Amino acid sequence: MKNIIIIGATSAMAEEVAKLYAAEKANLYLIARNTTRLESIINDLTVRGANTVHTSAFDANQFDSHEVLIEQAFETLGYVDVVLIAHGSLPNQELCQNDTTQAIEELNTNGISVISLLTHTANKMELQKKGNITVITSVAGDRGRQSNYVYGAAKGMVSTFLQGLAQRLNKSGVHVLDIKPGFVDTPMTAEFNKGALWAKPDKVAQIIKKRISKKSSFSYTPAFWFIIMTVIKFIPKFVFTRLKL
Ligand SMILES: NC(=O)c1ccc[n+]([C@@H]2O[C@H](COP(=O)([O-])OP(=O)(O)OC[C@H]3O[C@@H](n4cnc5c(N)ncnc54)[C@H](OP(=O)(O)O)[C@@H]3O)[C@@H](O)[C@H]2O)c1
Repeated sequence: MKNIIIIGATSAMAEEVAKLYAAEKANLYLIARNTTRLESIINDLTVRGANTVHTSAFDANQFDSHEVLIEQAFETLGYVDVVLIAHGSLPNQELCQNDTTQAIEELNTNGISVISLLTHTANKMELQKKGNITVITSVAGDRGRQSNYVYGAAKGMVSTFLQGLAQRLNKSGVHVLDIKPGFVDTPMTAEFNKGALWAKPDKVAQIIKKRISKKSSFSYTPAFWFIIMTVIKFIPKFVFTRLKL
């Protein structure tokens, strides 16, 4: 029976991952901001077979709460197999360009808060000498684009942090996984027109769970994003700066 902590548990992708573990009778510890939504998720996961579902409320940007939050979650579950960090927000890029308070808030939500939570989680996992830490970042972190470089900078920062963390924790037997989704049809992207490149959160969740079990270190999700991002990364700078991406 697996013990799973999910941070940002009301995210559509995270909720789908929780359903998959619930079906395997896991013990789930869900951390999220929206407590009303959490209540209905608890009921659903219990019906789906979860052995236990614990919850804690948090705002990702209250950094001083993170240590106790992680401490309590590990203490409740005893041993932790997987910690999934999923929270995030999609900034209004234009607003961030004109309002540094807004830009800093978005960098905190998508970058610094994740790194703070990872730091506490990593120290706990290192003591266990086993387990998996998975973070949902984004393909947006691979190369800065004018349409969303505040978001991309935060996600890229987390991806770089995860690379170093993976190296550090390798000798402790802890696996670190960076999930890089492309376009996913969730509340975050509700206002976008959807097309062929869009994935559903349940499909993404299946990939996340599979990659965790395979002990992968990163995953473009779905996999075709690896090809798209490889092309985007290799576009020469003098061409890239002229593109409207
Ligand atoms: N959808 C995409 O196309 C896409 C693509 C690449 C990467 N991602 C990333 O995938 C992850 C999951 O997002 P999603 O697509 O599943 O979107 P979602 O359903 O809108 O979930 C976003 C989650 O982040 C939480 N959140 C935002 N700010 C927070 C804060 N300050 N404190 C605590 N929780 C906060 C939200 O909580 P509330 O419920 O309280 O608002 C919500 O649970 C995010 O990291 C996102 O950046 C998404």
